[in-house]
Amino acid sequence: MDGRLLIFSGSANTELAKEIATCLRMTIGRAMIGTFKNGETRIKIHDNVRGCDVFVIQPTCTPVDHHLMELLLMIDALRRASATRVTAVIPYYGYAKQEKKTAGREPISAKLVANLICTAGADRVLTMDLHTPAIEGFFDIPVDHLQASAMLADHIYGLNLPNPVVVSPDTGGVGRANRFRERVGAGLAIIAKQRPEPDTAEVLEMVGEVEGKTAIIVDDMISTGGTLVEAAQMLNERGAAKVYACATHGIFAADALEIIAKSDLVETLVTNTIPQQAAAQAARVRTISVAPLFAEAIMRIHKDLSLSALFS
Ligand code: R5P
Repeated sequence: MDGRLLIFSGSANTELAKEIATCLRMTIGRAMIGTFKNGETRIKIHDNVRGCDVFVIQPTCTPVDHHLMELLLMIDALRRASATRVTAVIPYYGYAKQEKKTAGREPISAKLVANLICTAGADRVLTMDLHTPAIEGFFDIPVDHLQASAMLADHIYGLNLPNPVVVSPDTGGVGRANRFRERVGAGLAIIAKQRPEPDTAEVLEMVGEVEGKTAIIVDDMISTGGTLVEAAQMLNERGAAKVYACATHGIFAADALEIIAKSDLVETLVTNTIPQQAAAQAARVRTISVAPLFAEAIMRIHKDLSLSALFS
């Protein structure tokens, strides 16, 4: 790629964007991101981007629609300002759980969001731990899909936990949990859950031996915290000595942090794809940074180098 590398950030996670820029020994491009008096989002890119290879960092976390709109408008502004290539860097992709219809007359929101990002003018997407990898196929442009599991697993491995067993809190996450288990050298247990209604999790059954062991629940995201706390409760009932948890995206919606704080979870490890509230610390939530991984991916994309080495 010939154009100069530039990085811009929406308002969703400026700390992560700054960290990524620092890893790349760069500064964030200058832009005004605000709101008109009528509530519409206002964007003005201050730096010249003509002929540049531009990366816009914006996880579409809460408030999801607002952050999505900022991203779309920034891409549009950069496109119209003659950037040669625009990559949407979306560390957390909101609407990902609505990737299929579960009943009649429902939208497939994850697909619509992908259409919007393409229509706005993005040439590529760089993201992390999509709720389901099939979402990559919702885009008709290249998608580079990073995984946080190696970083999370290495952190857990470093804790030297006695007799570890990795737990998938639902059957859909077994593949993820199994890869994690291989990395930390642990056993595997699987919980079956059901959702009687949206945002409510009910544990049904568990397969695997956890008695006297250190259980590590591995998930892609923590939203209401229901899945996590229900799983932790079952693990305690089945005799687990201690329960830890890991997830890439710490959404912590509604009173998630309060219920996690009151639970028996020793520690919940998340990444900074989403900025964390001060209350996270009181809930024994620890955050590790994905900035070095995103910085490396951005540099490799800019230099047209393979990203495969980042996935191992
Ligand atoms: C479900 O399929 C996901 O992998 C997570 O388990 C889920 O999104 C967590 O949501 P909550 O924290 O609201 O139970």
